[in-house]
Amino acid sequence: MPSTTLSPAVLESYTPPQSPSPSSSLYLSRQSSHTATSTVDASKISFLPSSEPGLHPYDSPTLEIDDPATLEALTNAADLLRQGKCVAFPTETVYGLGADATSTMGVNSIYAAKQRPLDNPLIVHVSSLSQLRGILAPADSTTTTNGHAMNTGGGEIPEVYNALISKFWPGPLTILLSLPTDSPLSAAVTAGQPKFAARLPSHPIAQALCHLSSLPLAAPSANASGNPSPTSASHVFTDLRNRIPLIIDGGPCSVGLESTVVDGLRDPPIVLRPGGISVEAIRELGGIWAKTVTSKASLEDAADSSIIPEAPGMKYKHYAPRAGVVLYEFGARAPCGKDLVRSAILSGKNFNGKVGILRTRTWKAGIGELTLDCLKSESGDVKSEFYGNKGVGGLTVVEKGLGKGGEEIGRGLFAALRELDDVGVDVIHVEGIEEVLEGLAIMNRLRKAASVVVRKVG
Ligand code: TXA
Ligand code: MG
Repeated sequence: MPSTTLSPAVLESYTPPQSPSPSSSLYLSRQSSHTATSTVDASKISFLPSSEPGLHPYDSPTLEIDDPATLEALTNAADLLRQGKCVAFPTETVYGLGADATSTMGVNSIYAAKQRPLDNPLIVHVSSLSQLRGILAPADSTTTTNGHAMNTGGGEIPEVYNALISKFWPGPLTILLSLPTDSPLSAAVTAGQPKFAARLPSHPIAQALCHLSSLPLAAPSANASGNPSPTSASHVFTDLRNRIPLIIDGGPCSVGLESTVVDGLRDPPIVLRPGGISVEAIRELGGIWAKTVTSKASLEDAADSSIIPEAPGMKYKHYAPRAGVVLYEFGARAPCGKDLVRSAILSGKNFNGKVGILRTRTWKAGIGELTLDCLKSESGDVKSEFYGNKGVGGLTVVEKGLGKGGEEIGRGLFAALRELDDVGVDVIHVEGIEEVLEGLAIMNRLRKAASVVVRKVG
């Protein structure tokens, strides 16, 4: 069996997660704002597909909201967006922090609230293909939907994307498009890139906000920059409280990992960030998509500083909880007691004596207790703690199983990292999985979050 040990050399390379330097000119200063939360029931929102035969159902769908409270909450949010403010809302992947993509004031409010570096561009969200065409051909005609002007531009979406859009939109897929001349998008959205990223999300609340505001919405994940992405409204509140005016609470996100970002204007097409749609599913479309490659940088560990980023934003540390993350590649051996102690001690000055374990496919439930048992033969001063079962003193292990299926692991990963942070662990030991299907995106996030990667040997 392939195995590896956590050698002292590996553990000594541990560095606690870095937070951005607020003094740098890459960051805008933060504004304070009271944060309200508004709960919205997504089941009250529906989109009726485009009626013309042969059209994509989301070419120009009609929005229906038959519940007055839902309509009022979403209309209020849309009003804020039209005033150039930012609003956090659920998408099927993670919560987004949205603002008018055509307003530099709006877009800057996102960068400021998240403390996101200004050279990391944002994804533009739309609720229909006609809204996207409106960005590609801004001078085109306008019409009125629900009393608001809406651009129904006739700009062409490149044909190469037809298969992808038919199959995966609305959904967790982002495509890169050339910025048109006279682009209506604020230059801050693309951070100087010649292309912009666009996505038609499947979450009814995200769709309704784009539709009701008649605005394309620039929306990164609604976390403080560098933290794990938020998959519930409470995660957003933890990170952005008093930095944004409104959070729409639409319950937990179903996918849990961000969208796949793909550039189909290159031959072969390239996945810049693996995400909710697997590379295998894209290749199955055939034609040029059969050749789709994955960006090398998206597969690298964050610790490898030699990588030259292919997508802007790749150079920053991402998805990291406060605790250090030790990632065990699939096939590497599970941690033993000494690994837990040594990693906790090396994690920094404020050592709480708590270690987290996140199990996925093969580590057995109770692995934390077992590792502590093996330590007890060397030291009597070790106790364990599992959820709902408090221990006292010594080293404490908090263990959590994410499930075995790829979708389940992806859905729960960010929430689990945050949960372990909340109980104050110093280090989280995570069981990695194979880097295929959903595993590619899961391991991409974990590699970016990890300070130490325990490699499989052989
Ligand atoms: O699922 C998602 O994609 C979520 C939800 C809210 O839609 N959004 C999200 O946004 O994850 P963010 O900002 O956290 O990540 C956007 C990614 C970054 O890796 C960024 O570098 C890449 O998309 N990106 C955005 N615009 C780009 C561009 N013009 N060229 C290349 N990469 C781009
Ligand atoms: Mg993000």
